[in-house]
Amino acid sequence: MNGLNIFCWVIFPYLMLGSFIFGTILRFTKFKGSVTAKSSELLEKRQLIIGSLLFHVGIIFVFAGHVMGVLVPKAVTDFFGISDELYHGFALLMGGIFGIMAFAGILILTYRRFSSLKVFVTSSWSDLIVDVALLITIILGLSASFIAGPNAPDFNYRETLAVWARQLFYFAPNYHLMAQVPLLFKIHVLCGLTIFGIFPYTRLVHALTVPLQYTFRRLIIYRANNKKSAW
Ligand code: HEM
Repeated sequence: MNGLNIFCWVIFPYLMLGSFIFGTILRFTKFKGSVTAKSSELLEKRQLIIGSLLFHVGIIFVFAGHVMGVLVPKAVTDFFGISDELYHGFALLMGGIFGIMAFAGILILTYRRFSSLKVFVTSSWSDLIVDVALLITIILGLSASFIAGPNAPDFNYRETLAVWARQLFYFAPNYHLMAQVPLLFKIHVLCGLTIFGIFPYTRLVHALTVPLQYTFRRLIIYRANNKKSAW
């Protein structure tokens, strides 16, 4: 059992984070031209617009919530007089709103990818895997927050899971801290780490590019070609 815990909470996180860093460097140096999320807008538009909007708005706020929840120590919010009840109430409200948005978005996008024949046949394996992996991770995150959390009133992830996650950054993860964590949270974290591991090798890599050049470059003007073709 100890071996499994060491693998899950020490070795696996570094494998995934190492893969994230290695893959990102490789993708942006050797394969720079392939850093994109190939658009399938021409194949199907309606579901793409709704799903993509819901997913992107939701996931940006979910990400911000994770940074706050996992990286900001409880001592900091205690210092500002924010009680546990207020903190968790706010986290559940925001996590609920944006988590459900991200869930609805990825559900539509996954349905679209598998049900529209044109989209399906032009998808790569990694496109299919990414959608399913995101869907599973988001369902597990919501289940952890709304099922596992309320069912374990003595469990506070800010005193266990979040401390372990911060320790990863200074290379001293105490895997014993993860022993008391409810199973749904554990599976959610393992899936979340897997997403980091596969991130640079999939279309997710586009999230690392902020397309600032569009703000500064000159406008491109498209004109209809009204002349009859000579052919
Ligand atoms: C590997 C790192 C990750 C850790 C340590 C982690 C940890 C957590 C924790 C502790 C919660 C419960 C928050 C609460 O109840 O207040 C949670 C919820 C959630 N997680 Fe993660 N997570 C990780 C990765 C991910 C990824 C990659 C995704 C999305 C693809 C994700 C999506 C969610 C969602 C949708 C929720 C429920 C709504 C919310 O609280 O934001 N998580 N996660």
